[in-house]
Amino acid sequence: MKKILTVIENELKKAFSAGGYEEKFAKAVLSNRPDLCEYQCNGAMAAAKAYKKKPIEIASQVVQALGESPLFSMCDAVMPGFINLKLADSFVADYMNQMAADERLGLKEQESPKTIILDYGGANVAKPLHVGHLRSAVIGESIKRMGRALGHHMIGDVHLGDWGLQMGLIIEELRDRKPELPYFDPSFTGDYPDEPPFTISELEDIYPTASKKAKFKAEEGRKQGMSEEEIAREEEKSQAFAERAHLATRKLQEGYAPFLAIWNHIMNVSKADLKKNYSSLNVSFDLWKGESDAQKDIPGLIDDLIRQGLAYESQGALVVDIGEPGDSKELPPCIVRKSDGAALYATSDLGTILERERELHPDAYIYIADKRQELHFTQVFRVAKKAGFVAQDMPMSFLGFGTMNGKDGKPFKTRDGGVMRLEQLIADINEAGYQRIMENRTAEEEEARKTAGMVGLAALKYGDLSNQAAKDYIFDVERFVSFEGNTGPYILYTIVRIKSILNKYQEQKGELNRFSILPGTSEAEKTMMLEIARYNDVMEAAFKELAPHKLCQYIYDLSNDFNRFYHDSKILSEEDQEKQKSWIGLITLAKDVLEACISVLGFEAPDRM
Ligand code: ARG
Repeated sequence: MKKILTVIENELKKAFSAGGYEEKFAKAVLSNRPDLCEYQCNGAMAAAKAYKKKPIEIASQVVQALGESPLFSMCDAVMPGFINLKLADSFVADYMNQMAADERLGLKEQESPKTIILDYGGANVAKPLHVGHLRSAVIGESIKRMGRALGHHMIGDVHLGDWGLQMGLIIEELRDRKPELPYFDPSFTGDYPDEPPFTISELEDIYPTASKKAKFKAEEGRKQGMSEEEIAREEEKSQAFAERAHLATRKLQEGYAPFLAIWNHIMNVSKADLKKNYSSLNVSFDLWKGESDAQKDIPGLIDDLIRQGLAYESQGALVVDIGEPGDSKELPPCIVRKSDGAALYATSDLGTILERERELHPDAYIYIADKRQELHFTQVFRVAKKAGFVAQDMPMSFLGFGTMNGKDGKPFKTRDGGVMRLEQLIADINEAGYQRIMENRTAEEEEARKTAGMVGLAALKYGDLSNQAAKDYIFDVERFVSFEGNTGPYILYTIVRIKSILNKYQEQKGELNRFSILPGTSEAEKTMMLEIARYNDVMEAAFKELAPHKLCQYIYDLSNDFNRFYHDSKILSEEDQEKQKSWIGLITLAKDVLEACISVLGFEAPDRM
């Protein structure tokens, strides 16, 4: 379906041409004076310059040419040259009925769908999934779903951090805990066991312990009352452990079989757990690739960069300059190999690009990570283009998100100051949702728990997505689970309210259909219709700008419009049967649009709340 703005513009174009003016001036926008009109066209102002006439003269001419257009119930030329428009009720009702009859609710079909790689999630294997990764998962999932709703071929890749120092730390900590394991016996020649040498809960304990062990802090020791002698000894131990971990990481990266066997266990145990966590967030990935998959491409790509004369030695490292003429400040070169030859974050991302080009032939790339990684992605994108790993005009975007803060305005922590585990966070918000549900009604325990899960997820995701991604935001459970205000539960509550009206109607009348929608008869009804009509426009803009918050703002506005209409019109007691049917048809459409939007945002509404 055409966007309603496009339909309006097409009508305006005819009128501009009829007056002898170029069509390009026929731009329509939502009114910024809703008290005067619904849409407006400011094109006469621009045309006035080109045609050296008074804007009002052109505006009046256009209005005249619009004449009895069936689209408008009002077209006024007002000083200095605005064209104020109101849409005809019959035209709007017609647009509603077309939307209702379309299973895509008016989203247009893609003539040439794009294959788009979406790199999000970015969990680090064997490290706990913390709130830092929550945003990437939540935002990325919504962008993937937006793209899909619009008909693109979206490929979501979790791009695990699975090749770093954490692996060496785990290997050495495992050695300290279980030295008898065959992986640590250099003379062992048999097959390594299929059974992992740890459970997920052990693994969750191994990494933080090892990480702490590798960076003993003298201050900590002093706090604990250690003597300077003891501190020196601890420091030495810690350093030795860190060195072992570095060495183990290196050996793993060079393909040492026993460590690769441990690595495989770490991957399997950790991935199973990650999948569980992501699925409780309603997040899923098409690909479970990681940094390790990129390694095979790295030697070749380094050679290529050298051969092309792009990479050169600098202080022992191999670097590529990325500066471009228009840069406002100097950007540091991209390091592609460290002096010790170790693999690097940027190199992994470049290797991944080569693999993606070879296997997936994407038309565009979107990466979602903390905004502090912006420079990293600028470097990677520029090197990829400079070296011809991707086409010069390949669209590569980085959506950097801000920090999730606690109420104190500092990065979100647990009560005792630790990093909040995602699982805990979800449990907490579900509990808050449960309390909120139980406040006003006595639902059955089982149903209440299930509903609480849905409310919790909506609270969490909407709380995040309703902010512009790049901004920091305050994670405020109390506010997020509230049924009032700009919250996820408020949106769910609105949908549930519509569902309940529809159910009652069906009980009363014994039938429920997608009844045809008649021209609106009240201001509240028209306002809601115009909001519904914006759906395809909003979805396209939100995807184009990678801005889920625009979709949130839209459903918040639509929910408010519905609730105003609901308070205005006694739907279930309306005596005019035709009018009542039309209202039922209209609120069904409102519900469908709201549900389509929340599904894109990655949550669902319960039947009751
Ligand atoms: N694992 C990284 C982190 O925890 C995020 C990965 C982002 N994606 C990428 N292709 N570099 O910070």
